[in-house]
Amino acid sequence: TETGISRDDKLKNICQLLSDHVDYYDWVGFYFRNGDKEELLLGPYVGAATDHTVIPFGKGICGQVAVSNQNFVVPDVKAQDNYIACSLTVKSEIVVPLFVNGINIGQIDIDSHVLDPFTSEDERFLEFVNQEVAQLF
Ligand code: SME
Repeated sequence: TETGISRDDKLKNICQLLSDHVDYYDWVGFYFRNGDKEELLLGPYVGAATDHTVIPFGKGICGQVAVSNQNFVVPDVKAQDNYIACSLTVKSEIVVPLFVNGINIGQIDIDSHVLDPFTSEDERFLEFVNQEVAQLF
C-alpha cells in the first residue's frame, strides 16, 4: 500500500522550497479546478492567508489562466484591471498552468513584493516544476 507523505504535503513542500530559495517569491501556491465546475479552489500554499479560496474561471489572473491555458506574467499588478488583490504588499504575479495529460487541471501562482521581477527564466523553471508536479497526479 501507499505510504509516506500525501500529495498535498508534497505540494506544500514544493511551495516552501520555492519561497525559501527565490527571494522574490513571496507567496507560492497551487489552485486546482473544482471537479467539472468552472472554478478554481486554493490548494497547498505558503505565505499570507488569503480570502480567495474560490476563484471563478475568467476572474483575476488565476481565473484567466484557467481559460487561456497560457502563462500570465504581471510585472505590475496596479496596471491590471482584471486582478484580485490578496495583499496590498503584492506588486507582481506569475501564474503558470499545470497540465496533466494535456488537460489544464490547475496552476502554480506566485506573488512578489518586488516590481517586475519575473523573467522568461522563471517561466521555463515553473513550467519544469509543473511537469514534475504533474507526475503526482
Ligand atoms: N491575484 C490572484 C488571486 C490569487 S492571490 O494572488 C493568492 C488573481 O488575480 O487571480
